[in-house]
Amino acid sequence: MPQLNTDGRRSVSFILNGKPVTGHAEPRMLLTDFLRQEMGLSEIHVGCEHGVCGTCTIRMDGRPARACLTFAVQAEGHRIDTVQSLATPEGALNDLQLAFRKHHALQCGYCTPGILMSVTAFLEINAEPSDAEVRDMLSGHLCRCTGYVGMVHAILDVAKSRRKKAGSTATA
Ligand code: FES
Ligand code: FES
Repeated sequence: MPQLNTDGRRSVSFILNGKPVTGHAEPRMLLTDFLRQEMGLSEIHVGCEHGVCGTCTIRMDGRPARACLTFAVQAEGHRIDTVQSLATPEGALNDLQLAFRKHHALQCGYCTPGILMSVTAFLEINAEPSDAEVRDMLSGHLCRCTGYVGMVHAILDVAKSRRKKAGSTATA
């Protein structure tokens, strides 16, 4: 259980992008604010602040979650992944990020970190999605500027190349 400090904040410990971290949060502090203010993660974006736009999506124990609907203390003992978990420590983008770039699937990029978290989890459970399934998954996210066609193309493209890679590995 998180410890209550004398200033009313609680200590919160969890695994953030593969590394153990500890911070302090008031019981009502949202995970969005905690990740931005206490952990310095500027890639955590906030839009609607009530679970509609998807901009703040992170992964909690692998499952997409709205950080704006999660209290920081709820992260205690869990694994939290943000978009930082996709690239290498040296900053090399992964195949999904490269596909987004190739297909012009972002413009201002404000919605992108949250979308990439949802897409990553989605492709783990659906390696061969249809166009309609991709669009249905994206319906949980709002993009204000670039539209969704490029995203659909990027996601289908990366799913196809991952299947091809998995097939060649299996037959090697
Ligand atoms: S800011 Fe969390 S869903 Fe919009
Ligand atoms: S790329 Fe600008 S909000 Fe989606």
